[in-house]
Amino acid sequence: MSDDQVSGPDERDMSAAELHSDGDFDAGLRPRSLADFIGQPRVREQLELVLRGAKGRGGTPDHILLSGPPGLGKTSLAMIIASEMGAAIRVTSGPALERAGDLAAMLSNLVDGDVLFIDEIHRIARPAEEMLYLAMEDFRVDVVVGKGPGATSIPLDVAPFTLVGATTRSGSLTGPLRDRFGFTAHMEFYETDELVHVLRRSAGILGIRLLEDAAVEIAGRSRGTPRIANRLLRRVRDYAEVRSDGVITLDIARAALTVYDVDQLGFDRLDRAVLNALVRGFGGGPVGVSTLAVAVGEEPTTVEEVCEPFLVRAGMMARTPRGRVATAAAWHHLGLTPPAGAMNASFGVRTRDTLTESLFDDL
Ligand SMILES: Nc1ncnc2c1ncn2[C@@H]1O[C@H](COP(=O)(O)OP(=O)(O)O)[C@@H](O)[C@H]1O
Ligand SMILES: [Mg+2]
Repeated sequence: MSDDQVSGPDERDMSAAELHSDGDFDAGLRPRSLADFIGQPRVREQLELVLRGAKGRGGTPDHILLSGPPGLGKTSLAMIIASEMGAAIRVTSGPALERAGDLAAMLSNLVDGDVLFIDEIHRIARPAEEMLYLAMEDFRVDVVVGKGPGATSIPLDVAPFTLVGATTRSGSLTGPLRDRFGFTAHMEFYETDELVHVLRRSAGILGIRLLEDAAVEIAGRSRGTPRIANRLLRRVRDYAEVRSDGVITLDIARAALTVYDVDQLGFDRLDRAVLNALVRGFGGGPVGVSTLAVAVGEEPTTVEEVCEPFLVRAGMMARTPRGRVATAAAWHHLGLTPPAGAMNASFGVRTRDTLTESLFDDL
């Protein structure tokens, strides 16, 4: 399976060639088992129970929904679920399932116990989604043959399987689809110490000499995201090899991250553009997400699914019923004085447990 198929919208800054090589890079670093999977302690514990329970009963696990921003490990977890169950995984994505027939073909080829992974499941077309309901619930599909009054519907059995769906926006899943998952894992942004662990592991696999304080520095600028941590590690390695002796020290890491335009908080160019537009262009808001997206020349979905979750988490922005609002911290971050009555940063900072969930529920 090629990795660009399953990469998220955060590949925005990369050329096709770079995307491809990053894909290979990512694939080699993917954790292969639950024990190998760093962080997400709650998700890991919950998932372990689901999988062990099913194994103990000798059945297939309930359908599982993985929800959270890009690069947090959804695709890796889907593969881990299959390998922990000793099952084969079939991979497709919402946008690829345009016609119900596409899905029927996949479903009818499943073998008992298979894991069917549908990435970006919120983008599945309606007819395929309706077919999926029946398959998830009764392991059956109705295939319609012919057209008009002569059309007949032929019921087909589907082997018992586990659907694993991944989504960056569980809020836009329809109720009936969401209800058919027995378990939803809400993936959270990673803490710095967890990302240090990810970086140490990756450096070990790739044979990179990474000093501890340099790892902390890179981790702190990785937007809480393992995929970004790994990408920055690769960029910093380039710098260390070209400009120095290949060893990544704190000074090398700092110098490299400056070259690549990653700031102290890990904001990249697009994050900063969104903050700038919100604060300088719209006086701190409130402003709608599509207006904001036009102002920075990006797709609204990219702003919404890639930038915003992290800006909210960093306490720079809040989502209100009237639109996006900059916090006082955002004004300070841009070196400006917040106007009287600017929203306090603490408003935007929520606890770890509720953050991702609430972000995606009010979309
Ligand atoms: N928990 C983790 N431990 C170690 N590496 C991880 C973890 N989660 C993600 N990664 C790394 O980040 C990359 C992107 O993860 P992926 O599963 O593709 O994210 P998503 O599908 O959520 O966008 C993986 O290839 C892997 O290298
Ligand atoms: Mg993915």
